[in-house]
Amino acid sequence: MSAVIDSIRNEHRTMARLLDLLEGQIDLFEKTDQPDYDLIREIIDYFLTFPDLYHHPKEDLVFRKLKARDAKSVEPFGELEELHEEVSERLHEFTRAVVNVLMEAEMPRDTFVSLARDFISGERAHMSAEEQHFLPVAANTLTSKDWREIEDVVSKFKDPLGADTMSHRFSLLSEKVTSWRASAAN
Ligand SMILES: [Fe+2]
Ligand SMILES: [Fe+2]
Repeated sequence: MSAVIDSIRNEHRTMARLLDLLEGQIDLFEKTDQPDYDLIREIIDYFLTFPDLYHHPKEDLVFRKLKARDAKSVEPFGELEELHEEVSERLHEFTRAVVNVLMEAEMPRDTFVSLARDFISGERAHMSAEEQHFLPVAANTLTSKDWREIEDVVSKFKDPLGADTMSHRFSLLSEKVTSWRASAAN
């Protein structure tokens, strides 16, 4: 198994945990109108930064290699870069909704909640499709030489939630993810 696939799966686990945290805040918004907006903003900041700048490009790189090696194998999955644009669009719509709420603009509560839930369910569906189809096909099809070439490119990036930068850039999320990892290990 490639280290790149392992890292993508690990990143999915972190993103899934953040989506759970966000969903909890949206439930709270519906019940009490008093979610933790700092946490919501930090989760959005993370999703605006990490998938677009690091996670999706890494997957796109694997996808291009896979397509070059066996174009038929990726047909059922669709064009990954286009799917990433759709995911990104839902995130931006939700981000605009959060800004509107924070700026006390007129926004029906139902609209806000449905944009939030669309974003959350879209991210989950996208990651699930990658886990069930794209990553297993890539693992079975790409050669060791392909993975070495991918790893050479990937090694030039750095995970913004990596241990050295996490505590500065996403301090609130860092605490939440650390406590979640600790409880998952027990
Ligand atoms: Fe993706
Ligand atoms: Fe992904």
